[in-house]
Amino acid sequence: MSMTRQPRVQGRGPKSHANRSRQDLRIAPDVRKFIHHDPFRTYHTRPILAPPHPTSRLVARLEQLRKTLRPTPHVPLAVEGMHLFAKLEYSNPVGSIKDRPAYWILKRAVERGEICHRTTVIESSSGNFASALAAYTHLVGLKFIPVIDPNISGAYESFLRRLCPRVVKVSKRDDTGGFLKTRLAMVKHLCATIPDAYWTNQYDNPDAVEAHYELTAGEICADFDSLDYAFIGVSTAGTIAGVSRRLKERYPNVRIIAVDTQGSVIFGDAPRKRHIPGVGSSIVPPLLSRAIIDDVVLIPERETVEGCRELLMTHGLFVGGSSGTAYAAVKRYAAKMPKTRLPTVLLLCADRGTPYLDTVFDPAWAAELE
Ligand SMILES: Cc1ncc(COP(=O)(O)O)c(C=O)c1O
Repeated sequence: MSMTRQPRVQGRGPKSHANRSRQDLRIAPDVRKFIHHDPFRTYHTRPILAPPHPTSRLVARLEQLRKTLRPTPHVPLAVEGMHLFAKLEYSNPVGSIKDRPAYWILKRAVERGEICHRTTVIESSSGNFASALAAYTHLVGLKFIPVIDPNISGAYESFLRRLCPRVVKVSKRDDTGGFLKTRLAMVKHLCATIPDAYWTNQYDNPDAVEAHYELTAGEICADFDSLDYAFIGVSTAGTIAGVSRRLKERYPNVRIIAVDTQGSVIFGDAPRKRHIPGVGSSIVPPLLSRAIIDDVVLIPERETVEGCRELLMTHGLFVGGSSGTAYAAVKRYAAKMPKTRLPTVLLLCADRGTPYLDTVFDPAWAAELE
């Protein structure tokens, strides 16, 4: 099928998501012949084989978990001058794009023998990555200690406290005025003092890049025959590194546009207090060196708020701060896009709007922004 503008969206075409799930359920004929009712089957009260090794149980649970990570939809948005599509990462099982690296990092660490059933996973995160790790470590039977700070949204903190027996909340600001360096120092302290501790290190873990190369970008490549622009919010840079590498292989002329918040130091802006989590950082993330970036757009937080509101009021998408930032970048960039033909443009919507109800979606809160 020749298609330049419309992705193969859900429910249509041979590669539709609905079809994919049905295919997964199909049983190959050569396997089916072994599935039959055995009238002579006996039921043992004790196992006849040795119980499975705990690590193989971990692998089996991770395989089960993989089945819950289905492709996220690409939906068209009516914006003049382009064919714009939003990739709805909030439809991942725990609710954000961070489900992908959380799952993949655990899987790779288990495969390499770095994690076993005794491991305590430790990570510094004030949001989506900690939530995904909390759910997935719980599901596979591992302990997890998230290291958080006072900027965490109430919804994330409640979620983490319900799932994790121990949550460490730092309160001392670092020399940049933020908490990131204090959180990382706490992670190092916990790793040095807790036996069998494993730091997933989302800021410098190549498995996070691989997660987005294989999963996030793999889905884009499966759905789009051509792509001109991809707008991607940056924090640890895991997403942009993995997605940019795969998209450049598949669509050599695609332009990867990194989106950051003003006041974040990732692309050299002067550090300033930022209020909206998700996108931006007070350090240059090491994974950034793995990304292939054509251009950068820095968005002030006021525009993020407008972007989130417009996505909700005009397009019906209730999405979080980084999605509004990416959407604002698309709108700013539109003037630079070719006029001769409508380009196909993709923006990543990394999470839902719910945790941002008391901030981005509260006009009184937004009015205080500079
Ligand atoms: C909501 C949201 N958007 C975007 C990002 C940026 O992704 P990455 O850390 O891969 O750069 C994050 C990262 O935490 C996020 O939580």
